[in-house]
Amino acid sequence: MKYQQISASLFIKNRAKFMAQMKPKSIAVFNSNDVYPISADSTLPFEQHRDIFYLSGADQEETILVLFPDALNKAYREVLFVRETNAHIAVWEGEKLTKEKATEVSGIESIYWLSDFDKVFFDLMTEADIIYFNTNEHYRQAVETQTREDRFIKKCKEQFPAHQYAKSNPILQEIRGVKEPEEITLMQTACNITEKGFRRLLGFVKPGVWEYEIEAELLHEFIRNRSKGFAYTPIIASGNNANVLHYIENNQQCQDGDLILMDVAAEYANYSSDLTRTIPVNGKFTSRQKAVYEAVLRVKKEATSMLVPGTIWAEYHKECGEIMTSELLGLGLLDKADIQKEDKKWPAYKKYFMHGTSHHIGLNTHDYGSLKTPMKANMVFTVEPGIYIPEENMGIRIEDDVVIQEKGAPFNLMANIPIEVEEIEDLMHR
Ligand code: GLY
Ligand code: MN
Ligand code: MN
Repeated sequence: MKYQQISASLFIKNRAKFMAQMKPKSIAVFNSNDVYPISADSTLPFEQHRDIFYLSGADQEETILVLFPDALNKAYREVLFVRETNAHIAVWEGEKLTKEKATEVSGIESIYWLSDFDKVFFDLMTEADIIYFNTNEHYRQAVETQTREDRFIKKCKEQFPAHQYAKSNPILQEIRGVKEPEEITLMQTACNITEKGFRRLLGFVKPGVWEYEIEAELLHEFIRNRSKGFAYTPIIASGNNANVLHYIENNQQCQDGDLILMDVAAEYANYSSDLTRTIPVNGKFTSRQKAVYEAVLRVKKEATSMLVPGTIWAEYHKECGEIMTSELLGLGLLDKADIQKEDKKWPAYKKYFMHGTSHHIGLNTHDYGSLKTPMKANMVFTVEPGIYIPEENMGIRIEDDVVIQEKGAPFNLMANIPIEVEEIEDLMHR
């Protein structure tokens, strides 16, 4: 791991919050992700399943966490199973979690090798009536592969058909949606690394630079600051590429007079940051580019001020749409007739701003968190309005990550990342 070890106290707290919501005589199991194959003996770099990470800090494949608050033997209330390591494995694969290290990382005393799982788990299941399965109920999930969790659930249902089932996901959505101070610190670190990357670019972008060269600059800056890289596939979109919302080819040359939209951010310790900035390739906005940019920035500022405890996500989005509508009228992109005849289910502003304004962010870029209940302090959201005008060869989005406060305006984790027109132009001309 490149990141500094996280104090186990965070994971101890997280487990306590989860277990407090479990039903009597119930057991919950969390699996690591698979290491995904490419072909032959190649694999993708390992990415830990964020739920087992959140509850244990174990950042290693083939790990299983079992929580059983009512276990008769106290030692079995929290158990972590890790892949057996030994001197031979250490030579080939380097450092793996030993039992001692697994305890240090997670705060869990009972560590077993994975080979003991079936026996120990069977014994625990004879004491339990209910088993919590960790299914994926994220509102945007679209998973086609069978995960380790899926395989575990299938096997478990066959082996223990008389148990009752329950869902871990609603509990995780609720508790992961509200961040602990330690998590906010980790997210601030991710945002600070992103800031370093972005500042590096301001001196690098100029006509003739290729989008992938910008990607390389960022990756260099991220990794040298202990990030493993981008928190999500970077979008580095010059000119009209910015009007393809999920443009990830990043293979075009940046042209004089164009804008470049960059939705690029670092992860740190598996926590995401999520930044978008749109800058002029030649360091100077035209007056039209500036007018559109400042309209987006005003929407962003107004939207941010609405992120307070009690706000309902759907109502907030409706309000953001209304603010955007008035900006689009001001820019001459919409007229009164467009609004009068608009379809309320797909309002006129959606022609130029077709995505959401905010999402929860945390261990996942599009994180868990309730979207139907009022917002709470210490939820972390992005704010990311945009205006996309293919006929004018520009797409502008601006995105920061903010923490809802008990009182007053949210705290902007990206407050130090240049955003005002003059600031960007000034830094690009130094
Ligand atoms: N970078 C992904 C998003 O902004 O939602
Ligand atoms: Mn985002
Ligand atoms: Mn983004």
